[in-house]
Amino acid sequence: MKEYTVAIVGATGLVGKEVLNILQDRKFPVKRMIPLATEESVGTIVEFGEEPLIVQRIEEDVFEAVDFAVFAATIEASEEFAPAAVRAGAIVVDNSAHFRMKSDVPLVIPEINGQQVWEHKGIIANPNCSTIQLLMALYPLDRAFGVEKVVVSTYQSVSGTGKHALQELAEQSISLLSMKEPKCEVYPKRIGFNLLPHIGDFDQNGYSEEERKLRLETRKIMNRDDIRISPTCVRVPVFNCHSQSLNITLKSSATRKQVHDALSEFPGVEVWDALSLDGERKEHDEESELYPVPSECTDRDEVFVGRIRLDDTASSGVCFWSVMDNLRKGAALNAVQILELLT
Ligand SMILES: NC(=O)c1ccc[n+]([C@@H]2O[C@H](COP(=O)([O-])OP(=O)(O)OC[C@H]3O[C@@H](n4cnc5c(N)ncnc54)[C@H](OP(=O)(O)O)[C@@H]3O)[C@@H](O)[C@H]2O)c1
Repeated sequence: MKEYTVAIVGATGLVGKEVLNILQDRKFPVKRMIPLATEESVGTIVEFGEEPLIVQRIEEDVFEAVDFAVFAATIEASEEFAPAAVRAGAIVVDNSAHFRMKSDVPLVIPEINGQQVWEHKGIIANPNCSTIQLLMALYPLDRAFGVEKVVVSTYQSVSGTGKHALQELAEQSISLLSMKEPKCEVYPKRIGFNLLPHIGDFDQNGYSEEERKLRLETRKIMNRDDIRISPTCVRVPVFNCHSQSLNITLKSSATRKQVHDALSEFPGVEVWDALSLDGERKEHDEESELYPVPSECTDRDEVFVGRIRLDDTASSGVCFWSVMDNLRKGAALNAVQILELLT
């Protein structure tokens, strides 16, 4: 079997470390692994399975003989170094937002538009974590019944902002429980015991950057400019796993069982629902799967869906709840699945 040289840009970050774990868990055929980060991390050790690896500083010439470069750093690092990686002959899978909306860069969720990886010109973009979570549930319903409109509210964990945000939530929680004034460095307002309806800058219409990404990336991946999306994105004081509440208007009406089946038959989606399909409440011993919650979905690969209800205020509407580990399917796992398609 062919083996590959892989570079991870941002190997000391939350997504980069998860990429290393997942490549190892899924036995990706690695000949050589090159972990890269900033000057500050040079010499630190990251684990690749049992193997400790020494982190190197990213520079233009580190990509010689690299087959795949996974970027999990910043927009600026992707802008500066991804072209150098491509010039050196590597295929780049980029987790940042920098290339996502460029017309010559495929934006790929393998279960949905995996065949587009072959249209790459050196760079393939990984969608935003909330877009992946939304589309993993929306796409099977669009295929089965047609989706006209979706109203989505997100409840996004702090790991979505990176390693400094995890620390900020922990420190603010300790300060607040000790009756001390918390320090706010990562977010514009306190996140500890709070909710921030503010993810990225607001535009002149009042939408945040995260809300714009959800709309634009969905249209690109589904190749549908007519799909109507009304998003509200909220950062919540949860360490890991994003949640979403969805209200979807379908083109043709569906029963609760049909919605349940369309979702549960889609690869990468798992339905945990309190009601059995004939509407009976499930037995007590299935309590853990009554509905998904962040604490039970962390370190899991699937997008979990629960609380499926027909919307009784609309003729063909459905509501449900979903939870996904944003570091795995929302970032690292999706990137590794893209690499697997390329091998
Ligand atoms: N977190 C998520 O759920 C998620 C989901 C989807 C997409 N993403 C995207 O994935 C990327 C990484 O996110 P994260 O959450 O892992 O962030 P993070 O925990 O803050 O880690 C950032 C990583 O990037 C490195 N880095 C920063 N600037 C760099 C530069 N100029 N050159 C090389 N390396 C640099 C850091 O190195 P040092 O340790 O040396 O500073 C660190 O390894 C971001 O673009 C983010 O938007 C994240």
